[in-house]
Amino acid sequence: MVMENGKILEVKDLAVSYKVYEGILKVLRNVSFYVLKGEKIGIIGESGCGKTTSMKSIMRILPTNALLEGGEIYYKGKNILKISKKEMTYLRRHSISMIFQDPSTALNPVFKIGPQIYDIVKYSSDRRLTKSEIHELAISYLKQAALPEPERILDSYPFQLSGGMKQRVNIAMSLASANDLLIADEPGTSLDVTIEDQIMRLLKSIVEEKHLSIILISHALGTVRGFVDRIYVMYAGTIVEYGPTKSIFSNPLHPYTRLLIESVPKLMGKKIPEGIPGVVPSYLNPPLGCRFSTRCPFKMDICEREMPQVYEAEDGHFVACHLFRKEGS
Ligand SMILES: Nc1ncnc2c1ncn2[C@@H]1O[C@H](COP(=O)(O)OP(=O)(O)O)[C@@H](O)[C@H]1O
Ligand SMILES: [Mg+2]
Repeated sequence: MVMENGKILEVKDLAVSYKVYEGILKVLRNVSFYVLKGEKIGIIGESGCGKTTSMKSIMRILPTNALLEGGEIYYKGKNILKISKKEMTYLRRHSISMIFQDPSTALNPVFKIGPQIYDIVKYSSDRRLTKSEIHELAISYLKQAALPEPERILDSYPFQLSGGMKQRVNIAMSLASANDLLIADEPGTSLDVTIEDQIMRLLKSIVEEKHLSIILISHALGTVRGFVDRIYVMYAGTIVEYGPTKSIFSNPLHPYTRLLIESVPKLMGKKIPEGIPGVVPSYLNPPLGCRFSTRCPFKMDICEREMPQVYEAEDGHFVACHLFRKEGS
C-alpha cells in the first residue's frame, strides 16, 4: 500500500452535520489533520467542539443522524470513506482501534470479560487460533494492560470491575487490534485523577513500545503536553491551530488557544481557573466567519464575515486567525 509522506492517516476538509429536530447542526467544517507513522498527536478543545465526531468519522461509527457532507479520510493511502464495510471491519480488527471516555461503552454488560476479549483476539488474528492460544493471548494482553489476576478478570462481569479496571480491559482489547493506530478519546476523563494518571502512563508505554501512532484527546493539558509530538486545537468544529507540542505551549497563537491554556489550573499558586468567558456558538446557525469571533477579545470586522485561512506562523506551527494574515493576502 502507498503511504504518502509517511502519513498513516490524513483527514482532508471533513464536514459533518447532525440532523436534529430543530434542523441541521453544522458541526465539523474544513477539518484537516494528519498523523505520521509512529507519531503521537493530541487534539484539545472544550467539550462540544467536535473531537469525538472527528474520531467517529475515522472509525466510520457515526450515529445514523450524522450527515457526512464532505471530505476525505486517507488511511494508509486509501480513502476509508469509500472502502467496503468488509474492508472497514478488517481495519477495525487488525489496524485501528478506539478507546472511549466511558469504559463501559465497549463492554457488553451481560457477558463476562472472557468471551468478549476472546472474540476480539480470535477475529484479530489472520489464522485460526486454538482455544488455548486465544486464552493465552487474552491473558498476555490483560497483563500488558497491567491488570493483576488476569484469570479472575476473564471470569468477571463488567459490573464487578472498577472504572479503572474496565478501562484497562478496553486497553487490553485494543492491543489485539490496534497494530498501527490507536485513538484514545478522553480515556481517563471519567476516572479518578490518580487512576487517570496511571491509565495515561500505561497508554504511553504501550504506544512507545509497540511504535503505534496515537491520536490522544484529553482535557488534561499537562498530560497531553508530556505525551504527544504535535497538537491540534479544535474550536466549534474547526481546527484553529496546530503545531509541535512545544511551540503550542510556549507560543500559543490563536486567542482561543491562549485562553484555553490559561484556563488550566496552575499547579503552582492557588489561582482558580475561570474558564473561557462565553459559550461555543450554536451549530444550527454558526457564525459565518471565524467561529470564535463571538467570544474573541481581539475580534475585528473581517472576523465576522470571513473564515480565516490557515497561516504558517513559525516552522510547522499553523494558525487559522485573521490576526496572522500576511501582507497582501
Ligand atoms: N448524536 C448526535 N446527535 C446530534 N448532535 C450531536 C450528536 N453527537 C454530537 N452532536 C453535536 O456535535 C457537537 C460536537 O460533539 P462532539 O463531537 O461529541 O464534541 P467533543 O467530543 O469535542 O465534546 C455537540 O455539541 C453536539 O451539538
Ligand atoms: Mg468527546
